[in-house]
Amino acid sequence: MVNNGCMTTLEPRPARSPGVSYQELLDADTHPVPAVLRLESPLYLGDTDIPVERYISREWHEIEKERLWSRVWQFACREEQIPDAGDYIVYDITNQSYIVVRQDDGSIKAYPNACLHRGRRLKDYDGHCSEIRCPFHGFSWALEGHLTDVPAQWDFPHVEERREEDFHLPECQVGTWAGFVFINPDPQCEPLSDFLGGIQEQFEIWKLEDRFIEAHVTKIIGANWKIAQEAFSEAYHVNATHPQILPYLADTNSQVDVWENYSRVITAGLSTSPLLWYDVSEDDMMRGMLDVRVDQDSPIKIPAGQTARAVASASARDRWRSAVGDRVDSMSDSEMMDSIDYTIFPNLHPWGAFNRIVYRFRPNGDDHRSSIMEVFFLSPFSGKRPPNAKRRDLAIDEPFTNATELGMLAKVFQQDVFNMSKVQAGLETTWKPGVTLANYQEVKVRWLHKLLGEFVNKDFTGRR
Ligand code: FES
Ligand SMILES: [Fe+2]
Repeated sequence: MVNNGCMTTLEPRPARSPGVSYQELLDADTHPVPAVLRLESPLYLGDTDIPVERYISREWHEIEKERLWSRVWQFACREEQIPDAGDYIVYDITNQSYIVVRQDDGSIKAYPNACLHRGRRLKDYDGHCSEIRCPFHGFSWALEGHLTDVPAQWDFPHVEERREEDFHLPECQVGTWAGFVFINPDPQCEPLSDFLGGIQEQFEIWKLEDRFIEAHVTKIIGANWKIAQEAFSEAYHVNATHPQILPYLADTNSQVDVWENYSRVITAGLSTSPLLWYDVSEDDMMRGMLDVRVDQDSPIKIPAGQTARAVASASARDRWRSAVGDRVDSMSDSEMMDSIDYTIFPNLHPWGAFNRIVYRFRPNGDDHRSSIMEVFFLSPFSGKRPPNAKRRDLAIDEPFTNATELGMLAKVFQQDVFNMSKVQAGLETTWKPGVTLANYQEVKVRWLHKLLGEFVNKDFTGRR
């Protein structure tokens, strides 16, 4: 073990799953593998339990509101959701709300969603406007935030006197990366690019800025936002929660990497779980992935001497060629097949390469026992940018399978969701004070809590 400040690196591969490693799969890739996939950053972050209070207590939720959500860079929307001047979205986080609005010069500003007269929310829905006008008495602001109109102005000489200093809409910090618009309510926060660090370089080849929103689904979950997010932060649960995918998913031999404010777990597709006790043929791997029934022929046969992984990658390249062009010919099987699931602290999961998935998890309003899980499919396109998919909102009792635009993933998500409210219920009743984690496979969960702990303990004295 190498001591690396508060973190300890696991070296070279102690305590790892039996079976083929992700790096060994890359060695067998039929195409050149990009450097980003060759990186390894396994960190040992200790093995102490995570306090249950973090999931169940109102006090902890209040701490997160005050010290995390009001201080951290957070994903508010995609740039393509507000393409034109005057387009805006309402971004709600806990009991706070912000308007994120495109400016005439193409830049983006974000304001607390509150009128400076008597406080009404300025905007209730996403939309387009030429000015920001309060529906209560009609105070109005220009898109760039200065007060433009006060009805019956003769009655407000005191507002006129303080028009610039007190009646300009206050501004959050705003930054963009890869088509994601981030805001930070803390006026003294570090620049977004410093916060994001090396992930910016790691994603350069995947160009998420050149994607469109092909699907957008939100679902209310009956559990704390971290319970929902953590269910998508490890592949360890696959054996019990999604047993049907074990023949073609390398779960416990996923690679898990932790950097500063971002981390990732890479789970190989068309590679069999080390937990399966029987051999799976290349044909059966393909049948499993395509969900072919026992009495049906597989539409894709694996030629002798070839692997299902190589054949499926070739067919994925053909599928993406129309949108991405011949660039697909220089892309690895891994980029075609694998789940390259990054997390940016605290709650954004952009996937690398062509799995197209982006998740966001956040509290459901001011309720710490429910959350909003959000799934975007960010797909490549050629020619004119296609319109954004209409957002579908699923209530707490509506299954993910109602979102047919998510395809086969909807079924998998529903299996994940099935656990979540039961984790919340278990943590409310457990006699055990903490949650226990695997050292390697679940280190993304530990990483989240480590950063969360550091964030809430940061010294913000002297700041707003
Ligand atoms: S509360 Fe907005 S104009 Fe009165
Ligand atoms: Fe899952």
